Amino acid sequence: MTQVVHTRAELAEARAGLKGTVGVVMTMGALHSGHETLLRAAREQADHVVVTVFVNPLQFGPNEDFDRYPRTLDADLEVCRRAGADLVFAPSVADMYPEGQPRVRLDPGPLGAELEGASRPGFFHGVLTVVLKLLQLTRPDLAFFGEKDYQQLTLVRRMTRDLDVPVEVVGVPTVREPDGLALSSRNRYLGEPERAAALSLSAALRAGAQAADDGLDAGAVLTAAHAAFGAGTPGARLDYLVLTDPELEPGPVAGPARLVIAAWVGATRLIDNAAIHLAPRP
Ligand code: PAF
Repeated sequence: MTQVVHTRAELAEARAGLKGTVGVVMTMGALHSGHETLLRAAREQADHVVVTVFVNPLQFGPNEDFDRYPRTLDADLEVCRRAGADLVFAPSVADMYPEGQPRVRLDPGPLGAELEGASRPGFFHGVLTVVLKLLQLTRPDLAFFGEKDYQQLTLVRRMTRDLDVPVEVVGVPTVREPDGLALSSRNRYLGEPERAAALSLSAALRAGAQAADDGLDAGAVLTAAHAAFGAGTPGARLDYLVLTDPELEPGPVAGPARLVIAAWVGATRLIDNAAIHLAPRP
């Protein structure tokens, strides 16, 4: 049975009743099959699964989609029940931030100002602050995050290491539509032509990965990825397409690497990424 709680007091009581290991899946709701994969991973690896559903105002800029972000709690609870979650914590903003916006926020460091952080100032301060609060409130052994939000996953891992937060962070591979589009709650904003243009992101990643598999160097991998992005259905506007090391530090010339991309499709910002392996240079 899935228990649903809305306040910290209810959460504390329900959490105290969970014996054995606990895995948490943090979400902003609007759950899709990508989240179901996170829930399944948690179900397999922990004795109990706790899901949080909270649209965190701290991580939205003044001109972003906080007000129109999809809120679908009834459908989300159905997904949680189907996936066998033990406990769902769906607090109000007032319950999470009883004294209003917190004056103290986590500083994500230099990586927090790059890639997504460059386009969305303050975004990762808001993400890490709520993630740390939710870790304190749910006290999990394991926390599951999707690789789709790779910079978030990297920063959460970094935060738990740097601040000695006693939790194991588990990254879960991105779930894609059959045509390659990475699942995202924001995909529901896309109309028909935008949906087609959005495929430019995954096409760029596929082309980059193929070029790396063919033994091409970092420059050629990026060239192939840019070309595939440009060849897609018009309508996607590139923000960045970058090759980095697996920790999102400046790009390696050989070995494991990450190709990360962000683009606007109409008013919707989409991100995606892929692991690639650059052949050793002669
Ligand atoms: O990935 C998300 O949905 C959010 O950034 C998270 C981790 C739930 C924090 O609000």
